[in-house]
Amino acid sequence: MQRTPDLRLRDALDAETAGVSSASLVVSVDRLIGRYRAGGAASAPILASAMDVLAYANYRMPATLAACRNVLWHSASRIGEVTSVVDLGGGTGAMAWAAAEEWPDASVTVLDQAGEAMALGRRLRSAEPGSVEFRTWQAGSPVPAADLVTISYVLSELRDADRSSIVLSAIRAATRGVVIVEPGTPDGHRRVLAARALLLEAGLRVVTPCPHQLACPIAAPDWCHFSARVERSAMHRRLKGGDLGHEDEKFSYVVAVVDGSTDLYAADGSRVIRHPMKRKGLVELQLCRPDGSAGRQIVTKKAGVAYRTARDVRWGDDWPADDRVNGG
Ligand SMILES: C[S@@+](CC[C@H](N)C(=O)[O-])C[C@H]1O[C@@H](n2cnc3c(N)ncnc32)[C@H](O)[C@@H]1O
Repeated sequence: MQRTPDLRLRDALDAETAGVSSASLVVSVDRLIGRYRAGGAASAPILASAMDVLAYANYRMPATLAACRNVLWHSASRIGEVTSVVDLGGGTGAMAWAAAEEWPDASVTVLDQAGEAMALGRRLRSAEPGSVEFRTWQAGSPVPAADLVTISYVLSELRDADRSSIVLSAIRAATRGVVIVEPGTPDGHRRVLAARALLLEAGLRVVTPCPHQLACPIAAPDWCHFSARVERSAMHRRLKGGDLGHEDEKFSYVVAVVDGSTDLYAADGSRVIRHPMKRKGLVELQLCRPDGSAGRQIVTKKAGVAYRTARDVRWGDDWPADDRVNGG
């Protein structure tokens, strides 16, 4: 059986870090954590040196890959067949790995300002099948047309005006759809909502995670986010200084399709927006619903098929409309 992309990425990262001092990587990780925690637009590229790039790839890329895989897994059936993907600010290529898994025949182009990040991205993909190309690009420059244009974990590094302009350039270049992924924090969700507003204004149709085109019903202090499990490698544990064998990457996202470019999106179900709470004889779900509301639904054993579905459903999944029984 073929190893999954997360494990193949781990093998490629292990090969890249063989012989590299983990003390130097830890210094770079600490610097990057400080920089990312500080937030705000960067005055100079953050991923500049080869050591910082290797540190980023080891401590963040497995998590951003997990988030991107989760997003595409939940969205691909509503996007349809994709033959070309352009990933803006793609760095070391996390979204490219996820896109190549979802659409193995697609040509994927990673665009970024950071030459060192792309050089590592190319090496990490060197044993991988499929067509993934890395090209130097600066936000504000033209974006080549593609079925799908993706932007993952980039908006926080840009100024407000540059955020809108990168999303608008993605919209102009996309013939099928646009994918935006951000950290699953209140700020990340706010940036996703701002991007969602631009997508809707441009006439695109939101297909995931929102089951509607209306205003987001989730109000502060709450925020819409999802979670993807990341298995930590030995190097990952060393860099992050923890014993736990896994971590949960929280992310916020929106996927929208160009209206009329696919008829696959018609869905009238809800979205599970928290970990389902399972208790004896009942499951409590938090749902975002097609009518634009969000709230709790209790599904008890009496609901039969719906109860069995609820036992298996996970945070981020669809909750089928036909099973909407027993409260809500
Ligand atoms: C946090 S990294 C995310 C990388 C990748 N998308 C991922 O999900 O792992 C942000 C990326 O955005 C790129 N970036 C930031 N500002 C940019 C700009 N003005 N033009 C081009 N790329 C930019 C950085 O070089 C970096 O690779």
